[in-house]
Amino acid sequence: MSILTRTRAHLPGRSLAAQLSALRANISRRSFANTAGVDSKIIAGLETGRGTLASLRRVADALGHYVSPYPSALANKRLHLGIGIRGCGVSHPALLSLEQTGDGLVATYETVCKALGERPRLLTIVPTWYTPEPLLRAILDGLGLDRFDLDPASPCPPTAPTRTYFTERDGGLWLPWTARTVWCNPPYDQVPAWTDKARAEITAGRAQRLLLLIPYRPETKCHQSLVADPTARILIFDRRITFGGRRNHLDSASALVCWGLSDVEFVRLAGHLPASHELRMSPVGNRPHLPAI
Ligand SMILES: C[S@@+](CC[C@H](N)C(=O)[O-])C[C@H]1O[C@@H](n2cnc3c(N)ncnc32)[C@H](O)[C@@H]1O
Repeated sequence: MSILTRTRAHLPGRSLAAQLSALRANISRRSFANTAGVDSKIIAGLETGRGTLASLRRVADALGHYVSPYPSALANKRLHLGIGIRGCGVSHPALLSLEQTGDGLVATYETVCKALGERPRLLTIVPTWYTPEPLLRAILDGLGLDRFDLDPASPCPPTAPTRTYFTERDGGLWLPWTARTVWCNPPYDQVPAWTDKARAEITAGRAQRLLLLIPYRPETKCHQSLVADPTARILIFDRRITFGGRRNHLDSASALVCWGLSDVEFVRLAGHLPASHELRMSPVGNRPHLPAI
């Protein structure tokens, strides 16, 4: 499947101009301009912090990259945080144009990103690590459903059967997950943020049942927060899942975190899954010390 998506940041923490210069690296400005189909003055401008997002996108695309986050996702984050136009540090028309057309000066975009606590990045375009269809089918069968109601971390078109979905352009982290059954296999470079969001949506009652598929990394704070969450039940798959149509192998096992399922629903779901076991919570740290032998 040729669905493309985000991944690793290129030189995180640096301006887009610096990221672009580093990406161009040894390619001469002229031949790079030819490849991207733009005048070399545009590249020179972009590399000194001048120019528009539209031209930056075009140039990044020629290098197999894209600009993240999308202005539409930034707009949703601004609304989510309740930050007014003044709080973004740019003029009213510049912000509205950025949010409504997705274009504007790179400098405007970077200022808004900073105001909203986002790092503007040029990310590599890579294939989506989509959940294998047999696993999705087993989960849906286990829940007695033919599709989920919402997938908040989805490519377009969606790879999971779902009534509605949010993509990176929407910024699924910043929208309400109001749905009966939510399926979420999030981007793995931001698992803690998606886990916190999932918990917040369940706590607020917007999501009634939520299944979050994440890497099983027991050493992380994120995993420990799930173990400490009495409302979450965690299933660990006994074999590694191969994502993205047999191309992508995760370097760990996977955990399916379930919220909002009754005991009957949970047991039924577990019975439909490939070899897996429930992670039993045993609060060793809270037990009284055993006497020394
Ligand atoms: C691991 S893939 C899972 C795809 C699909 N949910 C599935 O289970 O097959 C994660 C997806 O999240 C999307 N994504 C990345 N950032 C996002 C964001 N901020 N909001 C919504 N979706 C996002 C990616 O484009 C990618 O398609």
